[in-house]
Amino acid sequence: MSGEGMSEEGMSDEAPRDEGLATRLLHPLVRASRAFEGLATPVYRASTVLFADMADVGEDRPSDSQYRYGLHGTPTYRELAARIAQSEGAHSVELVPSGLNAIALTYLALCKAGDHVLLPRNAYGPNGRAGRFLARLGIEIESYDPLVGEGIAAQIRENTSLVWIESPGSISMEVPDLPAIARAAHARGALVALDNTYAAGVLLDGFGHGADVCVQALTKYQAGHGDVLMGSASARDPAIAARLAEARHVMGLGASPDDCALVLRGLATFPLRLKHVGTSALRIAEWLKARPEVARVLHPALPGCPGHDVWKRDFTGSAGIFSIVLASETSGAASRFVDSLRLFKIGYSWGGTVSLALTYPDLDRPSASEGPRLVRLNIGLEDAEDLLADLDQAFDAIR
Ligand SMILES: Cc1ncc(COP(=O)(O)O)c(C=O)c1O
Repeated sequence: MSGEGMSEEGMSDEAPRDEGLATRLLHPLVRASRAFEGLATPVYRASTVLFADMADVGEDRPSDSQYRYGLHGTPTYRELAARIAQSEGAHSVELVPSGLNAIALTYLALCKAGDHVLLPRNAYGPNGRAGRFLARLGIEIESYDPLVGEGIAAQIRENTSLVWIESPGSISMEVPDLPAIARAAHARGALVALDNTYAAGVLLDGFGHGADVCVQALTKYQAGHGDVLMGSASARDPAIAARLAEARHVMGLGASPDDCALVLRGLATFPLRLKHVGTSALRIAEWLKARPEVARVLHPALPGCPGHDVWKRDFTGSAGIFSIVLASETSGAASRFVDSLRLFKIGYSWGGTVSLALTYPDLDRPSASEGPRLVRLNIGLEDAEDLLADLDQAFDAIR
């Protein structure tokens, strides 16, 4: 039906039509040749997806491979989802508008009223706030010590449906024993969801170490430039993957093809950027460790970091984010230090090109006395020497 009588390129050789201009522009007789291949995945924008005939429309199902409606993904979305699935060793990946959205999707896919969920104390803050929201839906969230290991068994109940893990945990950087926690959870029938954003799905094999669902903020390393938000939730088990797909479908969640194209662009340089910031961050962390102004460096690849041995056993590398605890106990020293930085900018998120720093004045981790002295650093793509000089002058400024 559509495309009938259409010329593939140039002017139509058909007789001029007598429809109005609007009709002729909407149903053109000429079209550029489709015999084209570039390096970038095209941005396929669509709400409406066309069918050849009514028989082709069929029935709308969440895990269908047929394109039916733009909300559920165009080829741009599917290309990105397939590449993330490949990088994680997942059966399939659901892409959603943010990392936080991927966390919410996981709750909706795996939990129901009456369930109990375990969430580590060091989890990404808004995940904890999601817990308070979910309490209204009859889902109880209980926090646990991320370093508890197999001791998690004591907190698992008959109705525990989900155990969250974040490795290493946001801000205070503890590395939990994922295999031990997963074993204890699985023994009681609970599923394990890993926020694998730090490892960008590649420095820690989430599924290989026992996770049932891996969540990532692609906003960080895959997008990589601080200008796109996107999240992914994936599963290796097809039945769990189908639950994620159903939740995304029912919630009407999609990811914009333009954003997918930007993340696909980011993917091309993602391994190089991750390696670069990993090397820079480790060098800077080691330099900071030797500074008298710094009491502790919380970097998973350094022995002082809680769970360092687990990191050595399970990870294949480290990323670009870590924290330091300043030695100064003077109130506001951490904020003055951050305010004195010039190249490091102040802002949330991480994994982008520019280095960032932030304090958390009310943080009670690693302890109530250390939390307010903690500074989180995201190392960007600047020359490491320049970042060291910036940190040096900031120490001078607050002396
Ligand atoms: C560990 C972790 N998970 C998830 C998120 C949420 O990602 P997004 O900003 O894309 O919502 C963040 C954001 O900072 C994060 O640090």
